[in-house]
Amino acid sequence: MSKQRKISLIGAGNIGGELAAQIARTQLASEVVLFDIPVKEEFAKGKALDLEQNGAINCHDCRIIGSSNWADCAGSDVLIITAGIPRKPGQDRKDLVATNLPIIRNVADNAKEHCPGALVIVISNPLDAMVYEFQRRTEWPRERVVGMAGVLDSARFRLFLARQANASVKDVRAMVLGGHGDTMVPVMSACTINGIAATEFMSAEQLDAIIARTRKGGGEIVGLMGTSAYYAPASSAVSMAAAYLNDEKRILPCAALLQGEYGYEGFFMGVPCIIGGGGMEKVVEISLNDDEKTMLETSANAVKGIVDIVNATT
Ligand code: APR
Repeated sequence: MSKQRKISLIGAGNIGGELAAQIARTQLASEVVLFDIPVKEEFAKGKALDLEQNGAINCHDCRIIGSSNWADCAGSDVLIITAGIPRKPGQDRKDLVATNLPIIRNVADNAKEHCPGALVIVISNPLDAMVYEFQRRTEWPRERVVGMAGVLDSARFRLFLARQANASVKDVRAMVLGGHGDTMVPVMSACTINGIAATEFMSAEQLDAIIARTRKGGGEIVGLMGTSAYYAPASSAVSMAAAYLNDEKRILPCAALLQGEYGYEGFFMGVPCIIGGGGMEKVVEISLNDDEKTMLETSANAVKGIVDIVNATT
């Protein structure tokens, strides 16, 4: 690991805490800032202390501080943004726009001032709208602003496929594209169990049920817990940060600013991206069948609808 790496976590709530725990445990950074609003600063400091004490047991020396001072985030290599309010049962991600939009604007302005060189991974929901607004506000190049959704949605899809096929999740490959929501697009040509088409292991009805469950994967957890998921979202963002910091050139589904790829431009949507030392180095264009193209168009229209709401909200 690099002794010099610094990651700031904007939002010290459920996902922020799990992010810090995973970053420390995997020694992805030597310094972590758990940042939150002033009324939560003591809470952030307490969580940071607990996590540092955890390091004494697990034998890692990651320095973790809690703060509500943006100056403490200066020099960050990566910012992971979870600032905002999570969903409650019965809420759609879209219902969060009004609350989370002023928050992402505040975060974008401060990030621009204090962390001008960082790679940013946005997790706050509604994801496609929040990452769009962050990039629009900062005017940072698309290489340095990505949204985390596809890695998580694909992980949910992989888990359900593995359980249905009675296979190891380690052998299941899957790719989910489009917006983070009910219109996400599973790409069946990229869905295999150790290279064998997943359709060999289950009926069309079983597969349809898995796709439907994946689309509602976040809502299922909100319904059970009363708040949104945090372990798998944190792991997803950590894998993206690691791909950047270690120049891994991984192909990960991320929300990226489209510039003509797949026939779309001017908004963020989930597409396969190469993540390496240059950040979001390239959007990979894969062949889609007619059904997948239609589903992607539906998804793009849903994302554009929410981006229109963002653009109309000053
Ligand atoms: N700057 C920094 N932190 C903020 C700000 C702000 N302007 N506004 C709110 N926060 C903090 C809250 O005080 C809270 O501690 O963001 C934190 C969010 O933590 P949780 O409520 O525990 O939410 P979490 O489960 O971590 O999810 C955060 O990610 O997946 C999405 O839908 C989810 O939008 C939600 C976000």
